[in-house]
Amino acid sequence: MQFKLTVLPGDGIGPEVIEESIKVLRAVGARFGHEFELQYGIVGGAAIDATGTPLPKDTIALCRGVDAIMFGAVGGPKWDDPSAKVRPEDGILAIRKQLGLFANLRPVKVLPALINSSPVKASLLEGVDMIVVRELTGGLYFASPKRRWETSRGRRGVDTLRYTEQEIDRILRVGFDLARRRRKRLTSVDKANVLESSRLWREIATEVACEYSDVELEHVLVDAAAMQLIRNPAHYDVIVAENMFGDILTDEASVLAGSLGMLPSASLAGLPKGGRTKRGSKVSLYEPIHGSAPDIAGQGIGNPLGTIASVGFMLRASLGLVEQGDAVENAIDQVLNDGVRTADLGGNASTEEMGERVCRALEQQ
Ligand code: IPM
Ligand code: MG
Repeated sequence: MQFKLTVLPGDGIGPEVIEESIKVLRAVGARFGHEFELQYGIVGGAAIDATGTPLPKDTIALCRGVDAIMFGAVGGPKWDDPSAKVRPEDGILAIRKQLGLFANLRPVKVLPALINSSPVKASLLEGVDMIVVRELTGGLYFASPKRRWETSRGRRGVDTLRYTEQEIDRILRVGFDLARRRRKRLTSVDKANVLESSRLWREIATEVACEYSDVELEHVLVDAAAMQLIRNPAHYDVIVAENMFGDILTDEASVLAGSLGMLPSASLAGLPKGGRTKRGSKVSLYEPIHGSAPDIAGQGIGNPLGTIASVGFMLRASLGLVEQGDAVENAIDQVLNDGVRTADLGGNASTEEMGERVCRALEQQ
């Protein structure tokens, strides 16, 4: 089959990890007889430098009408001036908003080969297999007012945590639907002891739960969830959370998997029904959860496995290539079982070596 993809490498280690994930995609194409037509766009700091804006019109145009989008990372110290008018991060935020990608799925699994790479005790990590559903186009990241200003008594700044019933309802349903296909436990994270938006969230979660009597719903306050995630991670199946709570909890959860560099993600405009996403329907975006890692950019030592795993996720969820997605996952397992590690996992394999090892494992399966 033939597929058309848009690739947005971005900044920092984004282009480095994307390059290896494309090699893996090519290896999948060669082995299973599929063709991937790629079109590249600029985004983030790279786009600010070239055009003055983090999301040029040409780039967002490239994102429409394709089978899926592969995204690297954006940001870096060059564009970090707090008073800057435009920021690289605005690029990815605008893509999420404009494409309606309200559901961000972040699976966290502990691979047996990496059980000793986490600072968390191995005994706590056995059986850890959860998926965090992060609301991605609302809440603190997007609602207004959102601004800074000066007053006679000093500077002020405001962000707003606002949610509509519809926004909360649709993200919770993604969580419930996923839980139904898994171990049937949904943990809804909020701060209902303090925040009104969270009390609404909790109320709606309880209402929606009536339609999912086969799923066990629990409500957990975000601070307690942050603790329990480390104390008893195997407890969790599906976790659903507000945009910023989900951002924070998934960086924390990545510690369980051994490194932030391991985790993939999918940003969706709704849960795919299975099979290839229809042309012309809403497009999904796949990206590692890590950032642009400016401290190691250009050294060729970043871990590409989160991005490669995102390719596996894309094959399965958007292209309907389940066997091929599994093949990518198995190849990652194989390489880790062979003891190959990038620097974040205490090894000395380069980004490129890691990518090539995954390709070879794929070919030899
Ligand atoms: C993530 C990142 C982004 C976010 C940044 C780069 C805007 O941290 O995808 O987790 O906060 O959503
Ligand atoms: Mg983040």
